[in-house]
Amino acid sequence: MKAEPRCRLETLALRKQLIGSSCKLFFPEDPVKITRAKGQYMYDENGNEYLDCISNVAHVGHCHPEIVRAAHQQNQLLNTNSRYLHDNLVDYAQRLSNTLPEKLCTFYFLNSGSEANDLALRLARQYTKHEDVIVVDHAYHGHLTSLIDISPYKFRNLDGQKEWVHVVPLPDTYRGLFREDHEDPATAYASEVKKVIDQGHQKSRKFAAFFAESLPSVAGQIIPPPGYFQKVAEHIHKAGGVLVADEIQVGFGRVGKHFWAFQLQGEDFIPDIVTMGKPIGNGHPVSCVATTKDIAEAFSATGVEYFNTFGGNPVSCAIGLTVLDVIEKEQLQAHALQVGRFLMELLHQQKEKHSLIGDVRGAGLFIGVDLVEDQTKRSPATKEAEFITTRLKEEFIMLSTDGPGRNVLKFKPPLCFNKKDAELVVDKLDKILTELEKKNT
Ligand SMILES: Cc1ncc(COP(=O)(O)O)c(C=O)c1O
Repeated sequence: MKAEPRCRLETLALRKQLIGSSCKLFFPEDPVKITRAKGQYMYDENGNEYLDCISNVAHVGHCHPEIVRAAHQQNQLLNTNSRYLHDNLVDYAQRLSNTLPEKLCTFYFLNSGSEANDLALRLARQYTKHEDVIVVDHAYHGHLTSLIDISPYKFRNLDGQKEWVHVVPLPDTYRGLFREDHEDPATAYASEVKKVIDQGHQKSRKFAAFFAESLPSVAGQIIPPPGYFQKVAEHIHKAGGVLVADEIQVGFGRVGKHFWAFQLQGEDFIPDIVTMGKPIGNGHPVSCVATTKDIAEAFSATGVEYFNTFGGNPVSCAIGLTVLDVIEKEQLQAHALQVGRFLMELLHQQKEKHSLIGDVRGAGLFIGVDLVEDQTKRSPATKEAEFITTRLKEEFIMLSTDGPGRNVLKFKPPLCFNKKDAELVVDKLDKILTELEKKNT
């Protein structure tokens, strides 16, 4: 470690020299060097404080002292692999199982969201003995080769769609195929899944899984119509496949009303496999797959061991357990609900004021502000979205965009984000939107 910190430009020059250029920076024209963080705030090398509206990884707050302490304490005692008995592993699985429907009672621990989704794919294929996968348009499920193949967000710019991959329309009732004026968008969107299954069967394709984020976040903070997943589950089960809910961005109480985002669909919906990542370790590389006994047993029946060197180690499990403790102790799920409602209210007021805002949607502290060039055509206001996030950075607020048109402002801050933070970010947003309107007249 270097004693004297480098200046920002020196770090940038070394990064350009040493790090693969496909690893992108936020604000590439003027990247920020963050040297420390606490709660929902991050600090650059000059001590400037930034409000973090981006990190759904620092779930209970950056550098939360209890998480840091738990890691340190366990690191001093032991860190090894899961081939030895250790209480942290079983305690953690037990605690996670208390948050899930009874059926999801078998756990695998891994290191990243991508690893979790890759294992989910293997489980689905082994259990069903089928190969094909249905995914929602614009989805992203990870960076491994297997997951690029099921991520339209990526494969459209690479080798294209594999024959075993089938893409269905995004259940987006704002800009999608069936909108808020449709009498039953849930059934209509689910029928698209059935259509793809029928077309596949005509070509003798067999379906292993339907994969989706419970709330498609990468696709632009989408809230699927209630009942959608129940109907999709019916179709995919009839085809002999399973339903995988990717909770990597949206799990662990973020949506406020429930601990898991798939629960927003109603108690009658239970996925066959749930994948977890990002917030699970508050920044420490942890991930998890939860599934049913039957699926896990089919996977074991191959006789091939599943071994993951770091997955489920005592330190990772101690951290994961403490994340759950802090969520409970600080009542962060209820806080997400309350603050999320407040932020939505403020954003709705902005929608009334600024024609650039086409839609405000969300659940808890998972919120999207969809910017449009034209309220009727709902054409994405991509350039304006980029201008806004760049200007917000100048105001010391970190916010990102997503969606196929990169026009959706994504709010997914650490859950300790409070009402004062909400007022601050909306106040700045109002100021920038007013600036933009003046510029355009
Ligand atoms: C929805 C979703 N699934 C999976 C992943 C992959 O997770 P990781 O980057 O931890 O491999 C991501 C990462 O951005 C994601 O957003």
